[in-house]
Amino acid sequence: MTNHIFISNKLKSFNKKIKVSSDKSISIRSVLLASQAVGTSKISNLLESEDVLNSLKTIKKLGINYIKRKNIYFIKGFGVNGFSIKKNTVINAGNSGTLARLILGLLVKTKTEVKLVGDKSLSKRDFSRVVKPLKLFGVNIQSKKNTLPIKIQGTNFLRPIKYKENIGSAQVKTCIIFSALNTPGITEIISKSSRNHTELMLKFLNYPIKVKKIKNYEKITIEGLKQFNSFAYSVPGDISSASFFIVLTLLSTNSQIIIENVNVNKSRIGIISILNKMGANILLKNKKIYNGEEVADIYVKSKKDLVGVNCPAKFNSSAIDEFLIIFLVAAKAKGISKFRDLGEMNKKESKRLDLAVKFLKLIGIKVERFENDISIHGKPNIILSKSFEMKNFLKDHRIFFLSCITALTLGGKWKINDKDSINTSFPDFLKILKKIGAKIH
Ligand code: S3P
Repeated sequence: MTNHIFISNKLKSFNKKIKVSSDKSISIRSVLLASQAVGTSKISNLLESEDVLNSLKTIKKLGINYIKRKNIYFIKGFGVNGFSIKKNTVINAGNSGTLARLILGLLVKTKTEVKLVGDKSLSKRDFSRVVKPLKLFGVNIQSKKNTLPIKIQGTNFLRPIKYKENIGSAQVKTCIIFSALNTPGITEIISKSSRNHTELMLKFLNYPIKVKKIKNYEKITIEGLKQFNSFAYSVPGDISSASFFIVLTLLSTNSQIIIENVNVNKSRIGIISILNKMGANILLKNKKIYNGEEVADIYVKSKKDLVGVNCPAKFNSSAIDEFLIIFLVAAKAKGISKFRDLGEMNKKESKRLDLAVKFLKLIGIKVERFENDISIHGKPNIILSKSFEMKNFLKDHRIFFLSCITALTLGGKWKINDKDSINTSFPDFLKILKKIGAKIH
């Protein structure tokens, strides 16, 4: 079956209201936390992407049943550590770093050994960042070279830890928080700021967790061995998916878009701050608090005179999945944009910093790289007319989205491979593009 698309026309001006797919981070967390709640949780608008479907398959393998009726998943939990695990259980996290790292935290007290595997991309990613704290809890965990496959066997003798999380990784932070749920006493994490959906969800569930802000860090304390009841949750839209439509609109001519009901948690909207610094006027309207999370409609209009940005590293964590598409704006902005300390981008589904440099050069943009800092020399009048073929990008969904948005805003004749990668995070991506008027073959 063909797994590529062709785009050879820029998008004509548009004025639309859309909804993007539901938030991936919140979807995975709601499935995993429902598996630990007492009773049947009801989750609606769950993102039905591969990463989330793998999360559902994972809890099922661990003895938690669910059914779907209409738009609602009913997940029946038996409380914290309520898994019932058969011998020789193998969990496949597929492409999802979030699922793989988070589930380890829920397996710290299990009697039976579990093996965790993943796809080619996930098998190259670093797990030392979670193996290290898990060992401090006293968990028996084995992996060669700190990559998947990993074998984990829980223990009844967990001890609470004090841990400094210096990467700014929400996956590491959540893995530790999940481990703390099973551990007697108080676990303490001093964590460099990162997305805080886990903390907000546990607070919403009345779980004893405390968070205190200390400059760019948070001190999180969690009391172990408490239970929480089942819950209802309706997952809002994903800012990471919305970001491609934000940039599509910004770089198109005479266009506007409203993206409804998107999660705009402060720890996620670095892209909006950065693009507004570059001259965009992105507005958040109809703000509401839903189960502790902030949700809003995003209003964007096209903008001609965008300017380069000297991007402070303090935005890195809150825009970590969006830099690829932010770089495209930098490519069309006036002046030089500078971004620094982006080594974490190379630890994602592909080596995104390396690939971003390769991509920008491919479309004729001058880029200077020094270690994990890059400078992008913008070309406000850039118009592409050549043919481009995108392949060998490790099937990274976000590189696929970036290529489509580039083709639709800067022109050129594009063949873009690995269409299936959209199923990782944003299965409706192409459908929505077509609704806006994109010609995709
Ligand atoms: C995620 C955290 C981020 C992000 C990933 C999703 C999460 O990773 O890149 O797409 O849901 O916790 P890190 O925590 O490793 O930075």
